[in-house]
Amino acid sequence: MDFKEIKEIDAKRYMKTFSRQNICFTHGKGCKLYDTAGNEYIDLGGGIAVNCLGHDDPELTEAICAQAHKLIHVSNLYYNEPQAELCENLLDGTIFDRMFLCNSGAEANEGAIKLIRKHFYNRGEKRPKIITANGSFHGRTLATVTATGQDKYSRSFAPLPDGFTHVPYNDLNALREAADDDTAAIILEMIQGEGGVLPADYDYIVNAYALAKSRGILFAVDEVQTGMGRTGKMFAFEHYGIQPDIITLAKGLGGGVPIGAVLARGEAATAFAPGDHGTTFGGNPLACAAANVVVRRLKNGLLEEAAAKGEYLTGKLSKLKKFNFVRDVRGKGLLLGVNLTDKLNNSEVAGKMAANGVIILTAGNNTLRFAPAYTISTREIDEACEKLMALFANTNV
Ligand SMILES: Cc1ncc(COP(=O)(O)O)c(C=O)c1O
Repeated sequence: MDFKEIKEIDAKRYMKTFSRQNICFTHGKGCKLYDTAGNEYIDLGGGIAVNCLGHDDPELTEAICAQAHKLIHVSNLYYNEPQAELCENLLDGTIFDRMFLCNSGAEANEGAIKLIRKHFYNRGEKRPKIITANGSFHGRTLATVTATGQDKYSRSFAPLPDGFTHVPYNDLNALREAADDDTAAIILEMIQGEGGVLPADYDYIVNAYALAKSRGILFAVDEVQTGMGRTGKMFAFEHYGIQPDIITLAKGLGGGVPIGAVLARGEAATAFAPGDHGTTFGGNPLACAAANVVVRRLKNGLLEEAAAKGEYLTGKLSKLKKFNFVRDVRGKGLLLGVNLTDKLNNSEVAGKMAANGVIILTAGNNTLRFAPAYTISTREIDEACEKLMALFANTNV
């Protein structure tokens, strides 16, 4: 099939959910991607913060192939070793007691919402309210689009589930006003990824956490984008010295193989009883075999590499601040954003960079988003940033 044919089929047969770029990738190696026309790209998007080991990582590919030869899927009505191994390896050394495995970030958050509600149901406490932040993104299921603090994602899907309240992000007073005896949980991202790579202020999170603890409210962190080393620590909440009751993971967890997780500690970790929640595919041997490689690699030096590469990329991107249309360079580790003024459009910049051989993501508030593999080389960072610098230098606005 050539690209023209692929596009024709997509236009006719695929639901109109995506505004796709005019590129069809065929394969990748490390942080390089290749398309149907044979063009090479430096991949600073990582499949939207997913491909933390890059493309065609030998260990990941080998583990997937080996597992596929043994067992791709068995029902969760039976035990499987890769799943047990993942539970042990992922939870070991963390504050969490138990986990549940699913297939995506939205599903992980949906599971967390159910877990929160079941926790208070078990306690006989009526706490119908879950607080999330404006500008947040938590997924595309009905409950998670409702939790998401961006009206554009939910407005056409009414009636929406009850019980969600949104407050301005990084505004402690607003959170203090909203958090009451009806509140079951506060769910926050430590960096709003989709929302524009907006980090939460240190004081905001420390105080929000203290507020939750003082009122018997569960504190949950959506680590779907920020987790698994993306910000230079295994989980982004570690930057704030807090101990959330629940976190959700997906994206980087399987290095590209779909898998999500809900991790919980204390009483909340035992809220579900058999029959309360489940999944056919979640935690199957193939996905867990992939996640086991990611966890092992992170514990064997990749986490430090992510932090170091993050600092290196931050240094390079910070040089863009000299342009008057760059408002801010922000983020942590390898989840970074370059926020532009309205003189320049982020999608247009991303499009021009793609034509120039560099894949960059966009995010809310006119932001360019960078989420490459942790294995990216400093040479690749240099080359990509030089191209961006040259594009900006030649931009007259
Ligand atoms: C913070 C956050 N939560 C949840 C999701 C939803 O994840 P998924 O697309 O895997 O359902 C995303 C996806 O971008 C995300 O960034």
